[in-house]
Amino acid sequence: MARYAHITGWGMSVPSRVLTNDELARTVETTKEWIVERTGIRERRVASPQQTTASLATDAALKALAAAGLSPRQVQLVIVATSTPEHIFPATACLVQDRIGAASAGAFDLSAACTGFVYALSVASQLIQTGAYQNALVIGSETLSRIVNWNDRATCVLFGDGAGALVLQSSSRPGGVLAFSMHSDGSGGDLLSLPAGGSRMPATHETIDQGLHFVSMNGREVYRFATRVMAAATREVLAKAGYVLGEVDLIIPHQANQRIIEAAARQLRVSMDRFFVNVDRYGNTSTASIPIAICEAFAAGRLHVGDRVVLVGFGAGLTWGAALLQWVAHAPVPAAPWRLSGLFIVRAMAWLRSVLRRLSRRVEAFLFGERGDTGRP
Ligand code: UT7
Repeated sequence: MARYAHITGWGMSVPSRVLTNDELARTVETTKEWIVERTGIRERRVASPQQTTASLATDAALKALAAAGLSPRQVQLVIVATSTPEHIFPATACLVQDRIGAASAGAFDLSAACTGFVYALSVASQLIQTGAYQNALVIGSETLSRIVNWNDRATCVLFGDGAGALVLQSSSRPGGVLAFSMHSDGSGGDLLSLPAGGSRMPATHETIDQGLHFVSMNGREVYRFATRVMAAATREVLAKAGYVLGEVDLIIPHQANQRIIEAAARQLRVSMDRFFVNVDRYGNTSTASIPIAICEAFAAGRLHVGDRVVLVGFGAGLTWGAALLQWVAHAPVPAAPWRLSGLFIVRAMAWLRSVLRRLSRRVEAFLFGERGDTGRP
């Protein structure tokens, strides 16, 4: 029997701190007019010192699970697409797995920069369609404010922090993720990168002095690349599924720059009304931009059962890709009081489980010492 990967839950989490263009214009040589005219961005969110990529991802994931009515114990796979992982390892996805108490889930991070969410959705949907998994959490989460040089006007005005998550569940009913495309061109890797801090150039005093731990970008080249691939990826994913543009209800693009989205609309000869745009309020949140936009599109009444939706993104790598969805989920009931208080209980239980796991590891080390093999994971 054919299996389909349905989106049954969605959730987002953004820091409460809003950084406006006016505020930025007081710290770097820019104007709010320049930023709005060239990017469409009016404000972005910035994480507090306590908020991290994993904490935002955890909040978004728990909301998505509550919306789907799924318990964390039923989650079999957690993928976190991110460009700002908490560490090179362990994977941010493992931190999320632990904090939500997804005791039987596999978890890994996926690195494809801003296209990461489209990649992660494609991977998870395939694992569901083959029958390997029934339930998966796909998350895009970023704290880009931590890797942006706040003195570089060419980049600091663009990025913001936030997270979005989707629950994917197996179904025999047609719908959900219908098709996807993933592409890369590593010859353009230098156009957008974080030069230091990896194995090629480990962090040293010199790399810090030279600011090589900050985002480095050739904005014009990335802009040219983006305007070339957005329309092409949209057309490609539709062709794969046997649909034409006229049959698409909504296009949710990566939110990097209003002008890039408008250029894609012109090339596709599709009116901007059929695009969902919220870059004005969040800036570019990389992997989180598409899932946050999905949550807001739903809240704004722009997603209905049966709608065909194209997600399309581009980013460092270079990478680009698209996914075609058929929206199948009805309005969830996340506002039900038991679900909200349930989130607190889920967190508390996950925390307790994590503490007990750590404790049992210590007890085992004490009891078995060097012998090690206790037969337990
Ligand atoms: O997820 C992928 C992430 N990256 C992107 O999506 C970036 C894609 N690129 C872009 O969105 C655009 O290229 C930018 C918004 C980054 C820049 O817009 P642009 O229209 O391509 O400007 P530009 O780079 O051609 O620069 C024009 C001028 C330059 O001055 P000169 O050389 O003409 O004197 C820049 O120095 O604007 C200057 N400039 C600024 N001026 C005021 C650059 N940044 C700023 C700024 N405020 N924040």
